[in-house]
Amino acid sequence: MSKLAVKIDPNVQMASGQTPKALGLDLQWSKAAAAKIKRIRARYPQGRQQSALIPLLWLAQKEFGGWLSVDAMNLVATTLDLPYIRVYEVATFYTMFNLKPIGQHHIQVCTNCSCMIRGSDKIVQAVQANTGVQSSGETSEDGLFTFTEVECLGACVNAPMMQIGQHYFTDLTPEKTKAILTFLKAGKHPSEWVDTPPAEVDPIHDGKYEGEM
Ligand code: FES
Repeated sequence: MSKLAVKIDPNVQMASGQTPKALGLDLQWSKAAAAKIKRIRARYPQGRQQSALIPLLWLAQKEFGGWLSVDAMNLVATTLDLPYIRVYEVATFYTMFNLKPIGQHHIQVCTNCSCMIRGSDKIVQAVQANTGVQSSGETSEDGLFTFTEVECLGACVNAPMMQIGQHYFTDLTPEKTKAILTFLKAGKHPSEWVDTPPAEVDPIHDGKYEGEM
């Protein structure tokens, strides 16, 4: 397995009192991550710090390139003094954890009920046509996009929708999806996208809101 380039701090103390270096681990937390881990563990009662497993896996994913290698999971296990298998069980259960490298932009298209009724199949087709990725879980050849089909992301009222990185894109049409992907191909960050309201008129308010009626 290839080693990831990370800022190392061999002096970060694990729950066991040992350092990553002493334990022979190549992958280590940055100083900023170590400080965050301290704050996360402080949320839990004494002796229950192992409950920090999911937040630490999430932090590891962000820290080490958007996915969880075996090394990253081992580091989480060692940090919390957990058996490795307990960490693997949780990491492999939740789809929010990526177990292989992902592209620069992780596109997650919801195809659950509300989004499906509102045309998510057309959004999937638009993503496939504009990234070259055909199957869920695959990454484009240029490494720019990973496409994943996912369950409800809790934005049903603005279906169909997709999440790219940490950002939601709602009220999608195939045209809008293409425009967003073109925007990202131009080197923009998802947070820079300026959304426009959907063209449809609200049937109850006929486009007007309280005070305007
Ligand atoms: Fe797509 Fe809920 S069904 S966000």
